[in-house]
Amino acid sequence: MTVMKSLLCAGALLTATCASATELEVTHWWTSGGEAAAVAEFAKAFDATGNTWVDGAIAGGGTTARPVIVSRIIGGDPMHATQFNHGRQAEELVEAGLMLDLTDIATAEGWADIIHPKGLLDSCTVDGKIYCVPVNIHSWQWIWLSHKAYKDAGAKVPTNWNEFVASAPALEAAGKVPLVVGQQGWQTSGAFGVINVAVGGVDLWKKINVDKSAEAAASPEMTKVFEAADAARKMSKNSKVGDWNLATAMVIKGEAGGQIMGDWAQGEFSVANQVAGKDYSCLPGLGVNEVISTGGDAFYFPKNKDPEITKAQKQLASVMLSKATQVAFNLKKGSLPVRGDIDISAANDCMKKGLKILADGGILPSGDQLLSADTTGQIEDLFVEFWNDPSMDIKTAQARYVKLIKLAD
Ligand code: BGC
Repeated sequence: MTVMKSLLCAGALLTATCASATELEVTHWWTSGGEAAAVAEFAKAFDATGNTWVDGAIAGGGTTARPVIVSRIIGGDPMHATQFNHGRQAEELVEAGLMLDLTDIATAEGWADIIHPKGLLDSCTVDGKIYCVPVNIHSWQWIWLSHKAYKDAGAKVPTNWNEFVASAPALEAAGKVPLVVGQQGWQTSGAFGVINVAVGGVDLWKKINVDKSAEAAASPEMTKVFEAADAARKMSKNSKVGDWNLATAMVIKGEAGGQIMGDWAQGEFSVANQVAGKDYSCLPGLGVNEVISTGGDAFYFPKNKDPEITKAQKQLASVMLSKATQVAFNLKKGSLPVRGDIDISAANDCMKKGLKILADGGILPSGDQLLSADTTGQIEDLFVEFWNDPSMDIKTAQARYVKLIKLAD
């Protein structure tokens, strides 16, 4: 038997089915309905290589999952592959030499030529070596609107932020939450960032997040952004939900008018069989400044001494980037593919808007690509407090924000 197997393998040299079955534990924080449907595409594609995906989903979102992931890696109990957001979240692990160098496979497969935009691969690169595979582009710059909520309230579905704010009283009168915001730091600070781009403009946002200008953070233009955020927290005061997908569920059911959330929300509308343009609308850049940010997810592979594991880790990286997997995964995830050379004609209206903005170059880096995990955490703490404590006025919040930007790294 053994002889036969090795002969078969020799005959089928280097084909995926010849690879011996290796189990890889893969950690991620994709536990909502849409996310689970999407990650199942990765598992299916990897299992088709003859290896086995062992799912290591961690509930509670990225803020809960990342410390667990990091401590397992540092503590000597690493998984075989793990999700992080594009950018700087894994930089200390890479610098400590704990992550597998993927440069050989990246070079062999020409990742530099196929991954678009280029910044995604740059975020995986440390000292010229590639340590992760970007799998999608997720943008924060969206608001998702419930057609049912507006119909119930006898109001028109807004086409931009100003109309959205103006329609809030009608929604409230109809017993709806105009703007639902899950009460977790990453969600409140995410919403603030989106309002910043829409109300303050791209240049102001860049001065603060790219140049780390405390002066820009203290400017009167930025005060206007805080005023808009104040209006947003008032519109969302009856939200009473924590998890982002429970907030999306309120939009789906027509209990809330809208949610500012990344385009992973799209996965929830899909599993609820809602149709973009008919049951819900999406406005990139809050219908004001139509840009998308190029955040998203990348997979890293903690080093392992077993060569079979290393081989399977590289196979998984390759599968995640393959044309077929990119299409199947991203259609379910609501994200855009990281390669431009694939047929994504099945994309819905919202994805098409995103693809067009991407093709026109209307992109911003994501906060995770620009700010350290520490700075991001401090900004999240500030905004969850601002959102939940109506006694914190705009002046106090802006002054604290300025201090954080001054110290940002
Ligand atoms: C990830 C998304 C995920 C979302 C909510 C983000 O950090 O990039 O893939 O769907 O968190 O869990």
